[in-house]
Amino acid sequence: MSKVGRREFVGGALAGSLALLAARGGQGPGAKVEILLDEKLGTISPDIYGHFVEHLGGVVYDGIWVGEDSKVPNVGGVRRAMIEYLKRVKPSVIRYPGGCFADSYDWRDGVGPRARRPRRPNFWGGAEPNSFGTNEFMSFCRATGAKPYMAANLRGLPAQTFYEWVDYCNAPAGATTLADLRATGEAASRDPFGVRFWGVGNESWGCGGNFTPDEYAMEFRRFTASVPGWGLQPLFIAAGPGSDDLAWTRGFFSKMAERRHFDFYGWGLHHYSWNVSRGATTDWDKGKGDALRFDLEEWYEMFREADKMEGLIKSNWAVMGEYDREHRVKLVVDEWGAWYRPGTELGKRYILSQAQTLRDALVAGITLDTFNRHPDKVAMANVAQLVNCLHSLFLATEEKFVATPNFHVFEMYAPHQGAQGLRTVFVAPQFTHPRAGQTASFWALNGSASLEGRTVTLTVVNPHASEARETEVTVRGASSIRSARARVLTATDIHAQNTFENPRGVEPRDETIAAPRGATVVFRFPAASVTRLQFEV
Ligand code: AHR
Repeated sequence: MSKVGRREFVGGALAGSLALLAARGGQGPGAKVEILLDEKLGTISPDIYGHFVEHLGGVVYDGIWVGEDSKVPNVGGVRRAMIEYLKRVKPSVIRYPGGCFADSYDWRDGVGPRARRPRRPNFWGGAEPNSFGTNEFMSFCRATGAKPYMAANLRGLPAQTFYEWVDYCNAPAGATTLADLRATGEAASRDPFGVRFWGVGNESWGCGGNFTPDEYAMEFRRFTASVPGWGLQPLFIAAGPGSDDLAWTRGFFSKMAERRHFDFYGWGLHHYSWNVSRGATTDWDKGKGDALRFDLEEWYEMFREADKMEGLIKSNWAVMGEYDREHRVKLVVDEWGAWYRPGTELGKRYILSQAQTLRDALVAGITLDTFNRHPDKVAMANVAQLVNCLHSLFLATEEKFVATPNFHVFEMYAPHQGAQGLRTVFVAPQFTHPRAGQTASFWALNGSASLEGRTVTLTVVNPHASEARETEVTVRGASSIRSARARVLTATDIHAQNTFENPRGVEPRDETIAAPRGATVVFRFPAASVTRLQFEV
C-alpha cells in the first residue's frame, strides 16, 4: 500500500468534505480553499511582476516617450501619467528594447545628443528615430523604481558590441571612454546604470536568427564569456523556447552540459495565449480571435491557454534539471499575455495594440497566480507589453491615457511581491463549457496565497462567466483570522473594457466579508472575477 503524503491527504480530505456537502442537498458553500500556513513554497520574487517595453508601434513613442517639448505632461520627455500609474504596481523590472527589435538594434544609435542620433529602419516597419535610447530608458526606470533588463543583439552584432554596451552602462564615472559618452546628451548620466540583467538574443529559434539549439548554445557561451562586470556580476538570460517547444530546451541544455556551463541566471520562456480551438497559429492573425467580440467558447479558450503556463513551467523545469541538476538556472518568462488578431488597434501606426477587456484581467490573474505557485522555479516574468500593445496595462495616444483591467490586477496582486508563497488547496467541482463542437471541463476556482508578516494575501480567479462560487476559506495553522478584507474586479458584461471615454468600465471594488469563525471565512466569489482576500492572522 502506498503512503499517503500530506499533500494528497489535504486534497482528499477537502474533496471528501465537499462530497458530504453535496449529499446534504447543496446547502452551504460549494467550494473550499485551504491555505497552509506551515507549507511555505519560497519567496515570491518581485521580479515576476515585471514588464516589457519594445520599440514597436506605439509602445515607446507616444506610449512612454512624448518628448520634452510635448503638450502631454511629461518628466524629461516621459509621459507623466505613465510614471505615476506604473509606480502604483511596483514594477520591479522592465525588459528593453525587444523582442524581435532587440536583434536588429544597435545601442550606439540611441546615445549622446538626440539631434545627432541616426534614423534607422525599425524591425516592425518605418523609421526608428532613436530619440529614446539607453539613457532615456534608464531615466524611465529610475523614475518608476524599476530595475533594467536589457536584451542584447545576438543576430546582427558581434559580441564585442555587447561588451561595449555593458561597459557603457556599468563602468564607473570617467573610467572608460564609453562611461564618458554616457555622461553626454540630454539624458546624460555620470553615474553608472548598474544593469545586472542581460538577455542574450531573443527568440533565437525564430526572428532572433533561426538558430538550432546547438548553434545558439555556442553563441550564448561566446557572448557571455568574460564580460567586464565592473564589480557587478552580470546575470545572463538565455533565449528559451516558444510555448511547448521542449526540444529547444533539451537541445540547448544538453549542449551546455558538454561544458557543464550552468553559471547563468535564467532561461527565457515565451508563452502567448490565443484561440487554439478555433485554429489559431503563431502566424500574425491566423485563427486568432477578436479582442472585443468573442463568444463563450473564446472566453474560456483564453483561460485554458493561460493555464498552460503551469505545465510549461513544470516541463521546462524537469528538462532543465536533467542537465543542470542543482537547478542553478531559473525560469524567466520574459514574454506572456493574450494575443488577438488585428482589428482593435488605436490607429494605423500602433502595431499590435489591442483592446483589453475583463477577459484579459482574468488571463493576468491566472498567469500571476501560476507564477506565485512556483517561486522556487520562476525568478522573473515580463508581461508583453506595457502600453499600446499585447496585454497592455495602459493605452495612450497623445493626451489620452487609460489604465486597462490588467493594470488593476497587477495593483491587486502587488502584496504578493517578496512575500512567502504558501501552498493552497482549491477544491471546487469542475464545470463544463462548449469547445470545438464538444464540451470540455475546466477548474472552477484557482489562485495563490502568500504571507508577509501576519498578513495572508489570497488571490482567486473565478472563470465561470455566470456562476458565483460560495466558498469556505480556511487558514490552516492559524488559530484565528482577526480581520478580513476583500477586493473584487469584475463587471456585468464579460466584454467590459476601459476606454478613453469610459475609463472606469472595469475597476476593483472593496466588498464586505462576513465575520470570520476561528480561522475560516465564507466568501462568495462573483462570476467572471479576480478577487483578493487579505487576512490578519
Ligand atoms: O511581443 C511581440 C513580439 O512577440 C516580440 O517582439 C517577440 O519576441 C514575440 O514574438
